[in-house]
Amino acid sequence: MKNIIVLVSGGGTNLQALIDAQKRGEIKGGRITCVISSKEGAYALERAAQNGIKGITLPRKEYPDNKTYSDALLKLLGEEKADIIVYAGFMTILDKCVCDAYPYKMVNVHPALIPSFCGKGYYGLRVHEEALRRGVKVTGATVHFVTDVCDGGPIILQRAVYIEEGDTPEVLQRRVMEQAEWKILPEAVSLLCEDRIEVIDGVTHIR
Ligand code: GAR
Repeated sequence: MKNIIVLVSGGGTNLQALIDAQKRGEIKGGRITCVISSKEGAYALERAAQNGIKGITLPRKEYPDNKTYSDALLKLLGEEKADIIVYAGFMTILDKCVCDAYPYKMVNVHPALIPSFCGKGYYGLRVHEEALRRGVKVTGATVHFVTDVCDGGPIILQRAVYIEEGDTPEVLQRRVMEQAEWKILPEAVSLLCEDRIEVIDGVTHIR
């Protein structure tokens, strides 16, 4: 069984989707052993506690820069014997040293169809605001490997979601979560735990 460590910063609905999938026996080959939050008091920690999962707060604001924070997180991941690391609404960009230590072992869920509406500055509600401003008719979510390029790692799974007349960023965010993120994140984590994802020339193949 692989140790899955989930990194969070906020409400943790994606963490909840992983916990629910685990309870249904849908995460094969791994189990969530620890949740680490970059923000004090994040509701995601409450969700971990309610489900008997260890929660640790490593506040980003207590560290002077990215590198010292990344070094502290890397140490913690080692202590927790992390095999697989999941960014589930984790809003902190980490130094290259972290992804270098876990090549193709870290995944992120992003609330758009990468390469649209992604990269530095595109996170949370902002992604949906931009999609609506640009007037796209289809958006969705992406689960991808974390590399040193922000939102640039190999794509594992994507799911499309239609934009509807009258959508607000909040309404669209909720629909993208329900129809895409909460489904493809547990699925991708399970595939990763089962060693079923191969990366060839930057492109993933599911075996
Ligand atoms: C989710 O929509 C997630 O895709 C997004 O933040 C939200 C977190 O919600 N992540 C990013 O934008 C990362 N670039 P949650 O805390 O309820 O899972």
